[in-house]
Amino acid sequence: MVNGETTVLLTADEIRARVVELASEIRHDAGADGELHLLSVLKGGFIFLADLVRALELPVTVDFIALESYGGGMESAGAVRVRHDFEMSVYGRDVLVVEDIVDTGRTLAWLHRHVGAGHPRSLRTVALLDKPSRRAVRVNVEYVGFTIADQFVVGYGLDHRERFRNMPHIGELNLPVAGSGKTANRDEPASGPA
Ligand code: PRP
Repeated sequence: MVNGETTVLLTADEIRARVVELASEIRHDAGADGELHLLSVLKGGFIFLADLVRALELPVTVDFIALESYGGGMESAGAVRVRHDFEMSVYGRDVLVVEDIVDTGRTLAWLHRHVGAGHPRSLRTVALLDKPSRRAVRVNVEYVGFTIADQFVVGYGLDHRERFRNMPHIGELNLPVAGSGKTANRDEPASGPA
């Protein structure tokens, strides 16, 4: 499908095992009466959410928010646009934000303010991938699947120009764009079919 375009970074088995571990940590912290409200950040978080929610073995509710950061150029200026807001009230709930990747932290910092304004009982975040070397703003991430270097990764929900999201593993992109100064895991919106 994408042979040669990516180099495997995390295999499907490695991801599967880590998701089970994350679910166990989250379940432990939730306590006996824990009912979590999972808030998935689209689009990239959809596969992680699907696997995590089944591994949790807790009563959960699920909602979605679709965000787009923009600002021009190849790097985000930190502005966040809501493409689709979440629908359920977070008031009094134990909210768990489910992110595929934290890069500069700007999207998550914005989301924490947005969700916090709805007065949840608690607010935690799980991110499958974390790139701490790229952090521009301080943000709390209670559960991290894998800490990675500053590399452009795709697969398991993550895209390059909307492609690669369906790869079962996570790979580093080998396309020329990956070495052309673009280091953030974000791309300009595609103007047409990729
Ligand atoms: C990615 C990812 C995070 C955000 C992280 O989304 O899903 O939401 O970037 O970047 P940051 O820490 O620098 O803010 P993206 O904008 O690529 O959209 P997508 O999930 O729809 O692909």
